Amino acid sequence: MCGIVGYIGDHQAGPVLVQSLEKLEYRGYDSAGVCTNDGQKLIVEKEKGKLKELKKATDDGKKVQGTVGIGHTRWATHGEPSKINAHPHLSSSGSFAVVHNGIIENYMELKHELSANGISFHSSTDTEVIAQLLEYHYNGDLVDTVIKIMPLLKGSYALGIMYREAPDKIIAVRKGSPLIIGIGENENYLASDVPAILDKTRKIYRLAANEIAVIKRDSITVYDTDKNVVEKSAETIEWSMDAAEKDGYEHFMLKEIMEQPKAVYNTIIERIKDGRVVLDEIHLTAEQIKSFEKINIVACGSAYHVGVVAKYIFEKILRKPVEVNVASEFKYSDPIVDEKTLTIVISQSGETADTKEAMYEAQRKGSYTIAVVNVVGSAIAVEANDVIYTLAGPEIAVATTKAYSAQLAVIYMLAIYFGDILGKINQEDYRNYVSELLALPEKIKLILNKAEDIKNTASKLFARKDVFFIGRNIDYALSLEGSLKLKEISYIHSEAYAAGELKHGTISLIEKGTLVIALTTYEDLHEKTCSNIKEVQSRGAYVLGIGCENMQLLVRSADSTILIPKTCDIMLPSLAVVPMQILAYYIARFKGCEIDTPRNLAKSVTVE
Ligand code: BG6
Repeated sequence: MCGIVGYIGDHQAGPVLVQSLEKLEYRGYDSAGVCTNDGQKLIVEKEKGKLKELKKATDDGKKVQGTVGIGHTRWATHGEPSKINAHPHLSSSGSFAVVHNGIIENYMELKHELSANGISFHSSTDTEVIAQLLEYHYNGDLVDTVIKIMPLLKGSYALGIMYREAPDKIIAVRKGSPLIIGIGENENYLASDVPAILDKTRKIYRLAANEIAVIKRDSITVYDTDKNVVEKSAETIEWSMDAAEKDGYEHFMLKEIMEQPKAVYNTIIERIKDGRVVLDEIHLTAEQIKSFEKINIVACGSAYHVGVVAKYIFEKILRKPVEVNVASEFKYSDPIVDEKTLTIVISQSGETADTKEAMYEAQRKGSYTIAVVNVVGSAIAVEANDVIYTLAGPEIAVATTKAYSAQLAVIYMLAIYFGDILGKINQEDYRNYVSELLALPEKIKLILNKAEDIKNTASKLFARKDVFFIGRNIDYALSLEGSLKLKEISYIHSEAYAAGELKHGTISLIEKGTLVIALTTYEDLHEKTCSNIKEVQSRGAYVLGIGCENMQLLVRSADSTILIPKTCDIMLPSLAVVPMQILAYYIARFKGCEIDTPRNLAKSVTVE
């Protein structure tokens, strides 16, 4: 997500802020900005693009005067990447400056209320609302004002605030997103992440939820929301810079696997209002949705695997034919799509050339395109007819995990949304789907808590040379992703196979000791898949079964099992994919593989 920095001391703040922002570049961002207070006014400089643009515009920060300042690198969630949407944001009179990390879920309502009071907005961000609220509610005491607006802001956030008439302090606020204060000698720092200040100080305070800090050059005072002073104990960071960038995890991939509950939560929470799935991003009338005769999905890699899962879900609920196409094949197959076809384009980066070309081909043939994309303002996002952003935050590891999970969440919401319009979902099922969707983040957490057990399983399997993933129906769709995760990062050959199809040929490869990972979370076909487990075991295979907690037949059939909590059929992939991600990760780690940047792979392949 976004990066926050702050400085107050005896040096010019501009250069210090720019240097600190450089340490946060690894997190992924699309614009950057700084604000200093020269004693008379707040000076804001911000630029779209990489930090070098800001450094050019501010002569490495020297152009902005003042020994107190805040800075920000933005990963766009609300409002495309642009100079006007970059942080810091000022209030109308220029008296407040704000930098923000997180999401204000109710910012539109707040914006409407403030606009009704004559306040005009310049950006399309949720952050600007905070600056305007501070000015609107300012009562002469900064901490009181902050405490007053905090309950108005729904969502998780971390804030850095400056007030023009108070050049001797920075206000920091933490609700959900992390925020730390670096303790220096007659100078202090603010940061959303340890790497930003590690070369300045290793002594920090970590703000806890609902704490407000007043940071001066020679004092730091922390309050709770009752304005009681909170005694903080300083922490000394022992991490290296490399470890700090991964938040203490050994690899970005593990960090991102662990971020999945938040990625799914952030992706769904704003789109569920009063128990209804609300997809304002889709500009199709109910009649247009009803007019589609089929759905065509185009994507690559793991995004394609989301499409295969989507096929089972859409066909089950919408009762419309769904075709899923590897994007590079779709474009050159003279595809049979037209204005009666709805095309869904899935891409984390929004820049994958094969997927972009496939989208153009579908559009050329008159098909309406809805993109499911993680990077705001990317080519596919901008050029599709509609775009639904996953809010997984920047994904650094090449092998996708949290973006895959966030894409699945969007697919569920599309299925519920379209199913309701097509009259294919009764109100009881609707309520159940929404309730299960909201319960997903916590259920994913339950599986993440089993990571050590899965690591132990991986320690027994990492030497295998050939691995088969098998499953039926939605479990088959899932086996594709499990197999790719393993291949991508451990370089072990693996194959995903429809469990019922294995006996028609490929079973000849099964021999003593072959590892077979059998996915059988889908209750309706559980017994059949357990028969397939027996088939491969009778030829010497070792079977690791992945199923749901109540599946005693699986426990009796497989050689070892990983069990996941139950959920509704269509959402099982969100839970079953997690053990496979963790298994692939630890197998690769035991093999000593690179993991975050596997050989031969790129995070986004922007050439055909
Ligand atoms: C591949 C990546 O190059 O592209 C995969 O290695 C990814 O991880 C695939 O799933 C599609 O990328 P995107 O950005 O279009 O989802």
